[in-house]
Amino acid sequence: MRAAVSATYRYLPKQIMTNHDLEKMVDTSDEWIQSRTGIAERRVVSEGETTSDMCTHIAKGLLEQSNTDPNEVEVIIIATVTPDMPTPATASLVQNRIGANNAWGFDLSGACTGFIYALDTGTRLVESGKYKKVMVIGVDTMSAVLDYTDRNTCVLFGDGGGGIMLEPAENEENGIIDSILRTDGSGADYLKISGGGSLHPASHDTVDQNLHYIRQDGKVVFKYAVKGMADISEEILIKNNIKSSSIDLYVPHQANKRIIDSAAKRCGFIDDQVYININRYGNTTAGTIPICLDEAVESGRINKGSLILLAAFGAGFTWGSMLIRWGK
Ligand code: COA
Repeated sequence: MRAAVSATYRYLPKQIMTNHDLEKMVDTSDEWIQSRTGIAERRVVSEGETTSDMCTHIAKGLLEQSNTDPNEVEVIIIATVTPDMPTPATASLVQNRIGANNAWGFDLSGACTGFIYALDTGTRLVESGKYKKVMVIGVDTMSAVLDYTDRNTCVLFGDGGGGIMLEPAENEENGIIDSILRTDGSGADYLKISGGGSLHPASHDTVDQNLHYIRQDGKVVFKYAVKGMADISEEILIKNNIKSSSIDLYVPHQANKRIIDSAAKRCGFIDDQVYININRYGNTTAGTIPICLDEAVESGRINKGSLILLAAFGAGFTWGSMLIRWGK
């Protein structure tokens, strides 16, 4: 039995931060950001708004869209690297706020591949036959870990996310067909937040050294991201004997438009097959793919029967791809 997506939902904070706003904070320009990344603006949370707040909006939207009573939800998986706090899990906070009295849940840390990792985990839970309503949400509040004096990182990221409801497929053609997931910790140093864990517990010193912010070697990450996304997209197509022309929509993680374009070109996708919204939201880490999915469903670019390919690459390094036949 396959797991299928029965509903999608997204949440983006209202406040827009444009490239011109960033020009006032760091030595950058709208021209540089747009030409190197494809990003024109991103969303940022309002004061006091948190990851669990965004997740709660999404969870409530999913309940409504899938006609589900909160008591029917069995598992809540939240992919995020910016939980409200290390413990309790964001999933517990959301469970309480939506009144999912019979659910258990956990947070999953897979950075930009987090949503695909979480979706695969949820898929296996449904396929086991034990669970029939699994919520999978990917949200990040990147503004909480961005150094707005570091032009190498602050221009790239934004806040927001989305989610899906997973249920057993009613039609055996539909649902999650396959996935390939990878991680390679030898890339750990190129993209990380090093402070606040057991290696560098929070202290005056870690704050003075700015260890609680995200840091990256953009050039190295770029190179691995193009190769990782393209390789794993090709691998899943070959494994399932599917031509790239048969894919109705390629939904790649939105980190940089040039990364997406290179990966899409290598796989042989034409522009119409590729979903891109990075211009409006930047990189929302675990949030990008579920935001894209919900927008694409709403705008009619994903329909019942559509063949969808997801691909992502992120810190860890982590990367993965997933094939879905849309519909329940
Ligand atoms: N505005 C203006 N200049 C900037 C800048 C900014 N926001 N950020 C960096 N620069 C400068 C650098 O300091 C460097 O200057 P230098 O050559 O004097 O040292 C120069 O621009 C680098 O230019 P270039 O080599 O052309 O940049 P790039 O093409 O590698 O693009 C990134 C930089 C960060 C956009 C790109 O490497 C990237 O997207 N990497 C992947 C990042 C990512 O996706 N991370 C998340 C992964 S999921």
